[in-house]
Amino acid sequence: MKIYNFSPGPAVIPPSVLGEASRSLVQFEDTGMSIAEMSHRSPKVMGIVEEASALIRELLGLNSDYEVIWVQGGASSQLAVAPMNLTDPKQAIAVADTGYWATKAIKAAEQICKVEVVASSEATGYDRIPRDWTLPKGVRYFHMVTNETINGTQYREIPDLPVPIVADMTSDFLTRPIPIKKFGVIFASAQKNFGLAGVTCVVIRKDLMKTPPNRVIPTIFDYRTHMAAQSLYHTAPVFPIYVSMLTLRWIKKMGGLEKMAEKNAEKAAVLYSELDRNPVFQGSVVEEDRSVMNVCFRTDRAGLEEEFLKYTERNGVVGIKGFPTVGGFRASIYNAMPLDGVQVLAEMMRMFAGRFG
Ligand SMILES: Cc1ncc(COP(=O)(O)O)c(C=O)c1O
Repeated sequence: MKIYNFSPGPAVIPPSVLGEASRSLVQFEDTGMSIAEMSHRSPKVMGIVEEASALIRELLGLNSDYEVIWVQGGASSQLAVAPMNLTDPKQAIAVADTGYWATKAIKAAEQICKVEVVASSEATGYDRIPRDWTLPKGVRYFHMVTNETINGTQYREIPDLPVPIVADMTSDFLTRPIPIKKFGVIFASAQKNFGLAGVTCVVIRKDLMKTPPNRVIPTIFDYRTHMAAQSLYHTAPVFPIYVSMLTLRWIKKMGGLEKMAEKNAEKAAVLYSELDRNPVFQGSVVEEDRSVMNVCFRTDRAGLEEEFLKYTERNGVVGIKGFPTVGGFRASIYNAMPLDGVQVLAEMMRMFAGRFG
């Protein structure tokens, strides 16, 4: 049976990438060795890191103002590392509380600097992006979760602000073109849209690193360390970077970010239009802020939630159970989810409503 993996991350990987990665895991090119056995300082692996960074630069259209680094520790580490690198202890950053990952960012940054929460959609169950707020004076940057993976909201437009945006783009990096000039730092773990768990890509506007903040930054957490060492300061996660590089090649071959955006919008439209007409399921997010990546929905019919999960799993659709604190369902439809996957899920929703609606 064909399995469609709607997991929020680690998530579906393009089959061609899996094929090449599995061959290289046994033997990489003509080396007689597995890619996983090779030194991160060997010319071949250094070439892979360079190509991965070059593809990020090409796909995002980065000029020489920006640097790309690859680090471990997930986006979770970056929630602390970004404010550590950018703020003095007495400085403040601004955050709009859009949900689970904004809340995590606020908690992490509060251990490092001051945090001004400019708005929150908590009162409405994080079903929207809060809009009516003003940026407090003197803040160093605005922290933005471009896509709230757990609550299913997404900024469709990136606001114009007088300060740089530091973006946690973990669940929508490389899924659409972005106005890069608005961002000071972007970070994203690889395991959703462009690779494998174990590595995080960080894009840094270099001028922000010129004057170090007035604090001690442990060397390993200092962006300058990794920028100076071309991401090879310590043992790089070679295999996750390799799979990311293959996935980046795939994104380029598929037509780049314009094409990704077009395909992702098409997939999301299939599910949202089904939600809009289906009597058994309801979308969890206001229309204008619906995520193109994580489609969150529920059913108000008693007992049907478990039933639908069993029905979909039996038929090869896996990973749609919502996050424990949110409940309901969440279909994660990242770059590598094919259109026929969402069509199959929409059809299951129709069939299910036919039986119970
Ligand atoms: C928006 C967002 N930020 C941060 C994270 C944390 O990433 P990691 O588990 O790689 O630390 C996730 C993971 O799902 C996420 O979706």
